[in-house]
Amino acid sequence: MSEAPVVTIDGPGGAGKGTVSLMVARRLGWHYLDSGALYRLVAVAAARDGLDIDDGDALARRVGQLRIEFHLLTDALQVQLDGVDVTAAIREEACARSASRLAVHARLRSVLLPLQRAFARPPGLVAEGRDMGTVVFPQAPLKVFLTASVEQRARRRWLQLSAAGVDASLDAILDELRRRDAQDASRATAPLRPADDAVLVDSSDLTADEVCARILGHCQERGLTV
Ligand code: DC
Repeated sequence: MSEAPVVTIDGPGGAGKGTVSLMVARRLGWHYLDSGALYRLVAVAAARDGLDIDDGDALARRVGQLRIEFHLLTDALQVQLDGVDVTAAIREEACARSASRLAVHARLRSVLLPLQRAFARPPGLVAEGRDMGTVVFPQAPLKVFLTASVEQRARRRWLQLSAAGVDASLDAILDELRRRDAQDASRATAPLRPADDAVLVDSSDLTADEVCARILGHCQERGLTV
């Protein structure tokens, strides 16, 4: 495994991991891994190729044939699958649902392991997901578990969608988040849970800037600043 230091940021959907992880990576000048985007990308590939998302072995075999490119732009991640920009497609709700469902397969998770670990390059990596601290980077010197009440997470998602002109129901978002939380936390392989040595951060009453500052404070305590 690489010698590059890793900061892991795990937590449920809608806790603000994406925004905050990107901010922390920028501030440290480190690389960034959005592992959820990988699972979402497999969901897009499965839909494109007519693969059954409940067939973990078929999905695992297909992963090796995919050309996956992550490009970190100024304030966002651009994702390409076989040369096609799927940045918008992977953010769709249906894709999130499929990603959560196919993420239960142990064989698929194991073929995605080396892909994720390859992101750990000097000067360091900020990796966000569900099992970054527990499975993928267990040696990380800083592990954060970022959470927020499900009501707050639903409200944030609703605001995001409303700002984007999407007419969404708050109750439907709340139901969907609860369903995904349950699925991600109850699966047998790499379930969503804080690592034993994780720092817990509750973002319910904090802005993204405040969460970022708190995480950078933990980085500083561990000598992880540039
Ligand atoms: O973080 P996200 O919403 O983009 O993740 C989408 C799904 O991918 C999530 O519901 C479960 C799965 N996932 C996972 O199992 N392990 C990860 N490290 C990241 C995501």
